Amino acid sequence: MSEEQNGKLEDQSWPELKLPDLLFTDTVQQIHASIENEWDSLRQSACQTAAGRALWNHVVHDPLAELFAGETYLRSLYGKIKKDRLTNAREVSGVILAVRTMWFDSKIEAALNSFYGGAAQVVLLGAGMDARAYRLSCLKETDVFEVDFPEVLQMKTTILQAATESTNDCQHAKMTAKSLNRVEADIRDNDWLQKLQISGFVPEKNTVWVLEGILYYLSHSHAMEVLKIIAANCTLTHTVLLADFMNKPSTTLSSSIFHFYSDWPDHLLPSLGFSDVSLSQIGDPDAHFGLLHDPLNLFNKLRSLPRSLQTHPDDGTPCCRLYLVQASGSPNQAIP
Ligand SMILES: C[S@@+](CC[C@H](N)C(=O)[O-])C[C@H]1O[C@@H](n2cnc3c(N)ncnc32)[C@H](O)[C@@H]1O
Repeated sequence: MSEEQNGKLEDQSWPELKLPDLLFTDTVQQIHASIENEWDSLRQSACQTAAGRALWNHVVHDPLAELFAGETYLRSLYGKIKKDRLTNAREVSGVILAVRTMWFDSKIEAALNSFYGGAAQVVLLGAGMDARAYRLSCLKETDVFEVDFPEVLQMKTTILQAATESTNDCQHAKMTAKSLNRVEADIRDNDWLQKLQISGFVPEKNTVWVLEGILYYLSHSHAMEVLKIIAANCTLTHTVLLADFMNKPSTTLSSSIFHFYSDWPDHLLPSLGFSDVSLSQIGDPDAHFGLLHDPLNLFNKLRSLPRSLQTHPDDGTPCCRLYLVQASGSPNQAIP
């Protein structure tokens, strides 16, 4: 294909930013104003990731993402994407989020299929503005639990109510999961599993744990504690853990926000009792989705370097990696 044709194709997939009317209703505007004024950056990260899904909606179908993201984050990311397009950047802003979302979507579906139709539940830890319970048809027989801070989940519910009350947009908030429970908890506290159980989580039921964009916001000890709690639960049922991990150089991107890292999650998880660990990097065959067009993109460059390298041999910049990791557990496995 010629470059011109290629360019035309790409332009079609990046339409101008058209924000939905619902975003400009008083209720939704007020909610987003208070998110911007009152929430810390940790909580606001929920809206930033929603903006990524909204602007990559030609590949990620998330009809609630714009509403959850809010105008400010949408405009900010759109500006970056536009600039990347103008400068012919090798990686377009938000592509990591798009690949990450699609990786988790595909692995959740595969994990549920691996339970051979047995009853299953999916727990989204640090769910933020995740809308999988409204957009994934593979969840139709599955109970979904969203765990996050009370204020995040309460705002989310208010935004959804605004969407449902709007006659034009009630389709947006139609659930595709069998059931959805919002569990208000701080996963640094030792009662979050108990809160989950009170909300209907059954430890003996096949479980998929989704830790997407959460572990690196925790301290090392809190992240390890969360992983150990999940590992202990594996002795009761068939479990699939899906999580993304930053390596050490990635946490330097914002040392005030990112804390936990693991350079070798594929070694860490077996030491906690998980098995069948597989690790992917953005650009690997199962984490590509046809979204990284330029063969010289940063992710390919990183993938070709040994994982032990912390800095690029060419320019000394930190090798910031995001590992997408799947692991499993079952009652037959012993916890070390
Ligand atoms: C980057 S967002 C990711 C949200 C969602 N998983 C996604 O991928 O769109 C991180 C989320 O983790 C939540 N979070 C961070 N620390 C938490 C904690 N200690 N307990 C509960 N939720 C937490 C934040 O409120 C935020 O919603």
